[in-house]
Amino acid sequence: MAEIQDIQWFPGHMTRTKRKIKESLKLIDAVAEIVDARVPMSSRNPDLTEMSGGKPRLILLNKCDMADPEATKKWLSWFEKNGIKAIAVDCKSGTGIKSFTPAVKELLSDRLMALKNKGMEGKALRVMVAGIPNVGKSSFINRIVGGTKAKVEDRPGVTRGNQWFSVHGGIDLLDTPGVLWPKFDDKIVGERLAFTGAIRDNILDTETLAMRLIETLMPMYGDNIRERYKLGDTEGLDSYEILTLIGRKRGMLIGGGEIDTERAAIMLLDEFRSAKFGRITLELP
Ligand code: G4P
Repeated sequence: MAEIQDIQWFPGHMTRTKRKIKESLKLIDAVAEIVDARVPMSSRNPDLTEMSGGKPRLILLNKCDMADPEATKKWLSWFEKNGIKAIAVDCKSGTGIKSFTPAVKELLSDRLMALKNKGMEGKALRVMVAGIPNVGKSSFINRIVGGTKAKVEDRPGVTRGNQWFSVHGGIDLLDTPGVLWPKFDDKIVGERLAFTGAIRDNILDTETLAMRLIETLMPMYGDNIRERYKLGDTEGLDSYEILTLIGRKRGMLIGGGEIDTERAAIMLLDEFRSAKFGRITLELP
């Protein structure tokens, strides 16, 4: 699937996706919106609610293997309180995937009842999978459809290229028609998506980004960083000093005993993205 960094968010591009989604609405019963459980708000598309035209919606908090389990619980109850059904999944190992079909059936219980009353009990429920790049849409579809990736024939009325996949248990999935954008005009959102690697980290220089990550993590996850890099007491140190200390602990020296903070920054971001210092969520409800 395309990556954010490869995409230019031209207004024309966005208009095209909006149109394609609108055209697809008449073919679907619900929308499954995939978000990154580490940044459940920042990884949402700001216009999807409006584009979904009132279709029932299910949120999938994906990558929950990398997110803080307590935070994921808070997000699940927050979505529930706000009347949005949500489940936590991990498409890498498959955890939680089994709850997708029952969740869709619960979400669409009225539709199932209506089909039953019309004698059309076997008809598949049709769900559009939506989400900004890198949240794991392809991984989810591959995981739930299984190794065979049973593609359904293009259907009448569906724009060529729209892809349908059949899921065991009576659900057909429509892959996002077009590419959805993140809320890229919000600086904090951009930063968080850069931390997770969803967007290219050149929105800021690498050292600044790593320093911002340290500032973001220190209040809640300071111990994780201190333990990972055996930093000892970091009281009173600013983020640059912490980054330098991390570089020193890892023996990242340039000539003359100076610390290579650029290398330390790259390593820190890399280790955060692969959850090396634990399961972390960057935003709470
Ligand atoms: P997209 O279609 O929405 O663009 O996302 P895609 O499935 O391509 O997933 C983006 C990256 O996130 C991939 O990593 C994928 O393996 C990873 N990913 C997806 N779901 C999960 C999950 O639940 N947990 C974890 N830990 N990772 C997940 P990649 O580095 O781009 O590729 P690769 O490592 O799979 O080769």
